[in-house]
Amino acid sequence: MDELIPIVNKLQDVFSAIGQPPIDLPQIVVIGSQSSGKSSVLENIVGRDFLPRGTGIVTRRPLVLQLYNTGGAAGHVKRESTPAASPTEPGSPTAKRAVPAVPQREWGEFLHLPNQKFYNFTEIREEIVRETDRLTGRNKGISSQSINLRIFSPHVLNLTLVDLPGITKVALGDQPQDIEEQIRDMCMRYIHNPNAIILSVTPANSDLVNSDALKMAREVDMEGDRTIGVLTKLDLMDPGTDAADILNNHVIPLKRGYVGVINRGQKDIDGGVSIRQALAKEALFVKEHAAYRSLQHKVGTATLAKQLNQVLMRHIRDCLPEIKSKLNMMMLSVQQEMAELGEPTDAASVNNLGATLLTLLSKFATNFQAAVDGRGSSPD
Ligand code: GDP
Ligand code: NA
Ligand code: MG
Repeated sequence: MDELIPIVNKLQDVFSAIGQPPIDLPQIVVIGSQSSGKSSVLENIVGRDFLPRGTGIVTRRPLVLQLYNTGGAAGHVKRESTPAASPTEPGSPTAKRAVPAVPQREWGEFLHLPNQKFYNFTEIREEIVRETDRLTGRNKGISSQSINLRIFSPHVLNLTLVDLPGITKVALGDQPQDIEEQIRDMCMRYIHNPNAIILSVTPANSDLVNSDALKMAREVDMEGDRTIGVLTKLDLMDPGTDAADILNNHVIPLKRGYVGVINRGQKDIDGGVSIRQALAKEALFVKEHAAYRSLQHKVGTATLAKQLNQVLMRHIRDCLPEIKSKLNMMMLSVQQEMAELGEPTDAASVNNLGATLLTLLSKFATNFQAAVDGRGSSPD
């Protein structure tokens, strides 16, 4: 089942590169109000510092983050030329650069910078900031056009995650007057996807009944089948209070419940506290806390990551038939279009694009079918 995810991710890239709305594929989408800790949660799941985060509106474009586990199985993540490179550079030679001899353990790649590997995660963060500013300016502007980043690492679970700007109520700087509505629409577009798993983030030091994240999630996922509640900032609750009632699902019950986490505070970020240290601190906090000690299966970043992976696997398995029939339909329509195009001289690049897409789709369908036939109903 793990092998399906890189294929699915690859396909997502193709759709994004040709400006098509992404096919309904499973993704984990993080929503919540501004500074609720969305980017911090994602970073902790990945286990590396690479996302811009902080007070104020830091995340200003959707970030589609594809994690590939490279651990152990060499060749599991087989590097081919990035498929997205072909549509943007129709004339580029198919020959790719030789694979570097040095064993590379962890790196990132952006869709907008094909064939460039980032080994330094600080540079990844800088590139996200640069690419955000490029489209939105520096004065708090927003854009719904996503940044696509892949992280290859032996330390991650195979997940696709989407980080989104947080809900804000008041327009600042270059923000449109209807900022709240625009961000809400942006979030809705991602979580509306019935294949999206919603990470609904609410800080523990605010009232759960006011949670934008829960409200939005409920609008698109009434049954709560694909919503996981995440309660951040457990460390910032008033002394003498705790979130045990929420975590025990007694306050606003969610079918899949809540996971409580402790991310790095601004002081930790400014002081350069590493994720490893932060996770250790989180574990210690849980262990020493009178209320959370007995709730270990509902607290902590590791718990959240494990739960996410389980939900994702189950979800992909449930979605296989529908994805497959959609792909078949798309392939048919591309084939038809190409037949109609014939051999146009002007539309060479369109034709090229169609050919690339068709090749990728048939490859996908073949791999997919093989996976379904071979291990179709493999358990989680
Ligand atoms: P986002 O806007 O929802 O993406 O939130 P960020 O991840 O950028 O975090 C916003 C601010 O809240 C940053 O200053 C973080 O350091 C802080 N923060 C996030 N989660 C926690 C937490 O669990 N505990 C504490 N103390 N601070 C947190
Ligand atoms: Na923020
Ligand atoms: Mg953010």
